[in-house]
Amino acid sequence: MKVIIAKDAAEIARRGADLFEQVIQEKPDCTLGLATGSSPIGLYQELIARCKAGKLNFSQVHTINLDEYVGLEGTHPQSYRYFMDSQLFDHINIDKANTFVVKGTGDIAENLKEFNGKLEQTQTDLQLLGVGPDGHLGFNEPGDCLMDEAHEEVLDESTIEANKRFFARKEDVPTKALTMGMGGIMRAKRLVMIASGHKEEAMRRLLLEKTIDPHCPCTFLRLHTDATVILEKSLADAIGYQG
Ligand code: GLP
Repeated sequence: MKVIIAKDAAEIARRGADLFEQVIQEKPDCTLGLATGSSPIGLYQELIARCKAGKLNFSQVHTINLDEYVGLEGTHPQSYRYFMDSQLFDHINIDKANTFVVKGTGDIAENLKEFNGKLEQTQTDLQLLGVGPDGHLGFNEPGDCLMDEAHEEVLDESTIEANKRFFARKEDVPTKALTMGMGGIMRAKRLVMIASGHKEEAMRRLLLEKTIDPHCPCTFLRLHTDATVILEKSLADAIGYQG
């Protein structure tokens, strides 16, 4: 596992975008696995800027997102489809027909079947990840075992607590979500995780302990042969990690 310590949000965005640029240059019709949350926003802004400057071309790129809340239509401002459109897709030259965010409404079993079908057909070239304060990836919550395939998860109280900032009231946060399973994540050729903000406990377990623990899903990154963590310096300092 490679760890890049980045001094601030601008460096996180730049280093992350460099990794994306490398993959898109090497393979213009690559498949990118994308993430939501606040961590990737700066990186998406950097990708938009590079696309507008003519340095990046998304015309042949396909994307597949990690997760979606159950019960929110894609037009809901807190849905992850809406997030992806407004934070990235509407500003780059991607064909939206080539972007996939699982639907969180309608026939959930059918939606999951479609999601798993996509994952079976696709080899993701680069999977971007954020991380929850409890170490969750996508919405794979800590537990005695983790799921391989895409599935529905009941969100942990700490996840609802962490994500309530995006909603008017805590009661508005959906209690369930659909997520790519750990298998879908781990089968990507390359993983890039952004760790910024208050993720001390998850980063302490990933970077300072040598265990692979389903109670902290991000520790599975240790098993991947091409995983990069872009770690905010303040977070590295907070846990006493020096590289
Ligand atoms: C949500 C998403 C995760 C994301 C996490 C961290 O729970 N499902 O994929 O990694 O938020 O979000 P943030 O980057 O805002 O800290």
